[in-house]
Amino acid sequence: MENRELVLLAKEAMEKAYAPYSKFKVGAALLAKNGEVFLGCNVENASYGATICAERTAITKAISEGVKEFQKIAIVASSGDYAAPCGICRQVLYEFLPDGEVILDSDHEGMKVMSLKELLPMGFRGEDIK
Ligand code: THU
Repeated sequence: MENRELVLLAKEAMEKAYAPYSKFKVGAALLAKNGEVFLGCNVENASYGATICAERTAITKAISEGVKEFQKIAIVASSGDYAAPCGICRQVLYEFLPDGEVILDSDHEGMKVMSLKELLPMGFRGEDIK
């Protein structure tokens, strides 16, 4: 699937965001190796701390459906600027697509493709636990 198409799906997912506190809506579209796409949005909570980011919503949906291998993820935000994933999401994405790509989109500057390894240098993985 083309990056442009995945960004459009992330924008659709963003419309479903539950973000009454920050008003910052985020959408993610995660492409699995089998071609399936899992969408996610941020789901905020009055406690703030229980908020779930869009990227982790998408990953959790996929894993809970038995899909574990992914190619890439597109992430967009309602600000129209690049939506750099937070540190926790980088770590979670690194668990499941360490060799994958992250596609970001800006209304002004267009698409930017980054590898997870660029976003999380020297990232920690299960195989490091010895
Ligand atoms: N957010 C995401 O969904 N993904 C990120 O990687 C960064 C932050 C959400 C969480 C919260 O609902 C809002 O953006 C503001 O932090």
